[in-house]
Amino acid sequence: MYPISRHSQRLHLRELRPDDVEGMFAIYGDPRATEHMSFDPRTRQDVEGIVARSIASAAADPRQEYALAVADTGNDGGRLMGFGRLALDPHQPRAATFGFALNPEVWGNGCGTETVRLLLACAFEDLELHRVWGARSPHNTASARTMQRAGLTEEGYIREHVQRGGQWRDSVTHSILDHEYAAAAAG
Ligand SMILES: CC(C)(COP(=O)(O)OP(=O)(O)OC[C@H]1O[C@@H](n2cnc3c(N)ncnc32)[C@H](O)[C@@H]1OP(=O)(O)O)[C@@H](O)C(=O)NCCC(=O)NCCS
Repeated sequence: MYPISRHSQRLHLRELRPDDVEGMFAIYGDPRATEHMSFDPRTRQDVEGIVARSIASAAADPRQEYALAVADTGNDGGRLMGFGRLALDPHQPRAATFGFALNPEVWGNGCGTETVRLLLACAFEDLELHRVWGARSPHNTASARTMQRAGLTEEGYIREHVQRGGQWRDSVTHSILDHEYAAAAAG
């Protein structure tokens, strides 16, 4: 499906554009944002490559990856303040893994929960998936609270799932199913 475009009260989930590099670098280049991720802060050149690959992946048929900008609701698609990604799961039909990150300057205002809800709307309403799941670092309590607020259930641990700085670490997984999303959306 292309293009994805979904609005919430404050945010616009849309396709990435080449001029999103600066906004993405403000996230992926910031050690606060990458503290619990699987990689060290990225260089600007790394981010240029990620944005270019993400834009190219949107043209794949069938599309397997939805690497999307989380922007404000300003004119011309708005300014990027976050990033969200749904990747179709090759091990299960109608399932995707997801991830999200926001510019640290906007943390603590509920935009993370709004972002996850937009990604779930895309997954369940646009793509008609059955299950969405994400993995976080055990120390990443902010993302645990965000996923819980958006209706995901904590599932358990994947042992030694991620390697960073030469060290293995576990991940904690969270998931939501289509009927759980529908019940939450109905209020
Ligand atoms: C995880 C992350 C997206 C959370 O972003 P966020 O916008 O701070 O998250 P939330 O939407 O859940 O909001 C957080 C706080 O805002 C508060 N808040 C303030 N105003 C609010 C409003 N209008 N609506 C809702 N919540 C509001 C909430 O109460 C919450 O506080 P608490 O967590 O102390 O209970 C952000 O920390 C991040 O980008 N981290 C780095 C990347 C990362 O870890 N990604 C997840 C990988 S699994």
